[in-house]
Amino acid sequence: MPHSGSLATDAAALEQFAADVKYYLSLAPPQLPSRYFYDDLGSALFDTICRLPWYTITRAETRLLAAHGADIFRCALAVTDIIELGPGSGEKLKILLAGLPRASGASRAAHLVDVSPAALASAAQTIGVLPDVHVVTHQATYDAGLREAASAVAGRTLVAFLGSNIGNFDAPGAAAFLQNVRACLAEGDALLLGVDLVKPERRLLLAYDDPLGVTAAFNKNLLLRINRELGAGIDLDGFSHRAVWNGAQSRVEMHLVARSDQSIRIPRAQVDIHLQAGDVIWTESSYKYGPEKVKSLLESCGFRPTAQWIDRDDDFALTMAEAL
Ligand SMILES: C[S@@+](CC[C@H](N)C(=O)[O-])C[C@H]1O[C@@H](n2cnc3c(N)ncnc32)[C@H](O)[C@@H]1O
Repeated sequence: MPHSGSLATDAAALEQFAADVKYYLSLAPPQLPSRYFYDDLGSALFDTICRLPWYTITRAETRLLAAHGADIFRCALAVTDIIELGPGSGEKLKILLAGLPRASGASRAAHLVDVSPAALASAAQTIGVLPDVHVVTHQATYDAGLREAASAVAGRTLVAFLGSNIGNFDAPGAAAFLQNVRACLAEGDALLLGVDLVKPERRLLLAYDDPLGVTAAFNKNLLLRINRELGAGIDLDGFSHRAVWNGAQSRVEMHLVARSDQSIRIPRAQVDIHLQAGDVIWTESSYKYGPEKVKSLLESCGFRPTAQWIDRDDDFALTMAEAL
């Protein structure tokens, strides 16, 4: 299977990790970028989160993909190549591809872009069993991987961005991301966007702070990763996981809250900071949308929404859009 990697070497990836940790921890409040959740253990924990009864995104989106696969490809006629950004396990793409009309003899390309080597390996294995689908993996961030994949595709392209990953961007970030996707596509290419919708706070908080503590482990694994890869000795018991709904910003925030005063030294990132009990490291935002807001966002970024399917049980929307 072809593999191209923008995170060219482990050393370059480690250097980038250290630089990001240094920069984001210097902000007020200190932050850590959510993409660093996904080392091998983080990807495995995320797969477990997807099975939890309280994390409804995966089941809702899977239902929509299974029900509307053929409709999706009726909206995006003559698609030959698919690029999925952040495929995780690849299970959703497999379901989506079941709706793709069989090409007469021609093989389709599925380009998988993910920062996580474990996710890429799993997705490549999941998609690799499909007949007539040629898998290409890109171990890269969304932007770098998309540029690489878009320059490799030859025909009509569908970009899939599922799992409400768009929710990890704030409003300017989401618009910049979608404009960049549009810039990498040709007129008439398509985007399939899966977005979690606003729902009652109790349901949102259970999704991000589950009673089994899997999401807490997923969040704290970021500290474990910093300890292992950047030579720190952060006390994992010194932090608690917390999810809060910020209604004014329409987002769930995940935090790591210092349970007592904490001194954090991260030698490979040249970080030396002190947190007082109750101080927070902000590790993830998950913005929640309304269906119309998704459409207007797409319209403002050079796309024309062509169809939208909504799962009313779990309040989730899949939106198809054409690049103008
Ligand atoms: C929340 S999971 C969703 C996985 C899958 N799309 C789903 O719906 O189940 C996010 C995936 O995107 C990857 N990812 C997160 N941030 C990324 C980034 N900035 N660039 C590339 N991949 C990223 C993670 O490794 C992970 O596999």
